Amino acid sequence: MPALHTDSHVFSRVLGRPLPVVARAKGVEVWDTDGRRYLDGAGGAVVVNVGHGREEVAAAIGRQAATAGYVHGTQFTSDALEEYARRVATHAPAGCDRLYLVSGGSEANETAVKIARAYHRSRGEPGRRKVIRRSVSYHGNTLYTLSLSGRPNLRAPYEPMLVEAPEVAAPFCYHCPLERTFPDCGVACADDLEAVIAREGGDTVAAFVAEPILGASAGAAVPPEEYVRRTAETCRRHGILYIDDEVMTGFGRTGAWFAAEWSGLRPDLLTCGKGMSGGYVPVGGVLARPAIVDALESAGGFVHGFTFSHHPVTAAACLAVLDILERERLVERAQAMGARLGQRLARLRSHPHVGDVRGRGLMWGVELVEDAPTRRPFPRAAGRAAAVTARCLQAGLIVYPSTGCANGVDGDAVMLAPPFVVTEPELDEMVDVLDRVLSALGL
Ligand SMILES: Cc1ncc(COP(=O)(O)O)c(C=O)c1O
Repeated sequence: MPALHTDSHVFSRVLGRPLPVVARAKGVEVWDTDGRRYLDGAGGAVVVNVGHGREEVAAAIGRQAATAGYVHGTQFTSDALEEYARRVATHAPAGCDRLYLVSGGSEANETAVKIARAYHRSRGEPGRRKVIRRSVSYHGNTLYTLSLSGRPNLRAPYEPMLVEAPEVAAPFCYHCPLERTFPDCGVACADDLEAVIAREGGDTVAAFVAEPILGASAGAAVPPEEYVRRTAETCRRHGILYIDDEVMTGFGRTGAWFAAEWSGLRPDLLTCGKGMSGGYVPVGGVLARPAIVDALESAGGFVHGFTFSHHPVTAAACLAVLDILERERLVERAQAMGARLGQRLARLRSHPHVGDVRGRGLMWGVELVEDAPTRRPFPRAAGRAAAVTARCLQAGLIVYPSTGCANGVDGDAVMLAPPFVVTEPELDEMVDVLDRVLSALGL
């Protein structure tokens, strides 16, 4: 049993369950204070891309903190921030090259929807105030980003406080919300966006927000590429801004710098976080088209900001992570190792309750169902994803659970999304542990 802080004054992320205490982490491994080793099969929460324990990131943070640790974003810019924004622009989807740096993915999405609203207002369209969301999705845990998220389990306690946002069917083929089958469906979920815009009135809609691959809400479900092209075209036709939420997929996770590359999407706004700093500092960002920034400037500015926006130490940490991603060609590595992880995970399909194995790059989901032929999920109370996650941790493997993916309430998946430096023996070990845990739980 790992050493525990039994007299803790921490208001913990998990109440009623003591957590092991981390001692150190290096590469793909984490150790607790009792000397137990864990293989980080999930990069925490799909965050750690360049690996744990990178001295050069720590040194960059230290240098910037010692030189100019904090300035307010309305008073100064910094070389670290300017250089970082310039370098990110070389990897961003074409034209999406102005960076607004914040402290997390939820903040990034809050910022993006406010940019969309402010942009339309600046152009004399103050009636555009709605943001269209998808039925299965996750965009954050602040009240507005939760309002945009299709996660009934997370929304339930706060439902009376959430803002209404028009919903469209998510492109989640394994549990199609429209009960259709790809490709015979003709990608009906893309038509749904058109129908909802017609119902709401296109001139009332500011933005459409979508993850390029459904992350924690669906366990790495990849939409048909045609869906992305068609919804982007619909948005363009109606003057609606397309917000590409790449908080989970950005910075190489899918084997491309941004998942937009896979479909050729050119979003108006792109949000990011997680792998941007590899976990070394809290971060989020919005990449915007210059025309949007220019419109806001002409209208007198963008009324928004946080105390820690545009933080120089955050920028220095992210710049060091970007250096590593480029120098070690880790995005290419994510693609190559991701393909190998996918091949290894495919063998789990022989388990009677593994319904689907899906993903791209180093972002994979294994969905567990009660009845594979009908894809019927386990009831929520059975807690299958939680049980697999807990057993894996006991066996020294960190996986990331996803619940509610089948119908909003029921549905169990676990995600594997290791750091890009993962080796083949480590991939073998991860899949072996998961395989054994599924067998031990009768799955
Ligand atoms: C796609 C997506 N958007 C937004 C967020 C929210 O980011 P954060 O937890 O950093 O606020 C997440 C977090 O999991 C995410 O996966």
